[in-house]
Amino acid sequence: METLEAIKRRVSTRKYLDKQIKDEELQIILDAGKQAPVAYNKYDDLIITVVQNKDVLNEIDRLCDKYYGVDTRIFFDAPTLIFVSSKKAKYDQEYENVACIMENMALAATDINIGNVYLKGMTLHIEEKTLAKILNLPEDFKAIAALGVGYPDRETTPKIHDIKINRI
Ligand SMILES: Cc1cc2nc3c(=O)[nH]c(=O)nc-3n(C[C@H](O)[C@H](O)[C@H](O)COP(=O)(O)O)c2cc1C
Repeated sequence: METLEAIKRRVSTRKYLDKQIKDEELQIILDAGKQAPVAYNKYDDLIITVVQNKDVLNEIDRLCDKYYGVDTRIFFDAPTLIFVSSKKAKYDQEYENVACIMENMALAATDINIGNVYLKGMTLHIEEKTLAKILNLPEDFKAIAALGVGYPDRETTPKIHDIKINRI
């Protein structure tokens, strides 16, 4: 698939098959994430953590349900979560760095027909230190977002989005 085709076809998947993706597929997604641009070339200030262990996934789900007091299915039962964490960066650029990695991974996943969804909620609703401990992060790292990935339970239909464009 061409890059522009992957960009057009990317869509958030919120229903997954109960089947893990192949390691080769995961590797393609991770390699794309690693190729993202990062401010000041500070790749060492970022960590990508793959969570596939069911006990850990259940614990993350449980902590979010506890926060909301309802069954959230916060990551839609995606069998793999790819967290992107960062050290605090100059000029708050950790958020942009993480977003670049996230989108590269989302497009790579789309390219190989792996469903994916950008997930911010877990990093907002699980206490920072608790999540850092679950993810085994070093002291000064914070989880910023996660990509849920897995086989979609049905064919996904891309949407057309519009953003106002001004030309000056
Ligand atoms: C920074 C960011 C945070 C997001 N957080 C969540 C989230 O926590 N849960 C979720 O279901 N979708 C989340 N999304 C996905 C958006 O809701 C989705 O991309 C948007 O509605 C457009 O739909 P599409 O991805 O299907 O094109 C997030 C997207 C971005 C860029």
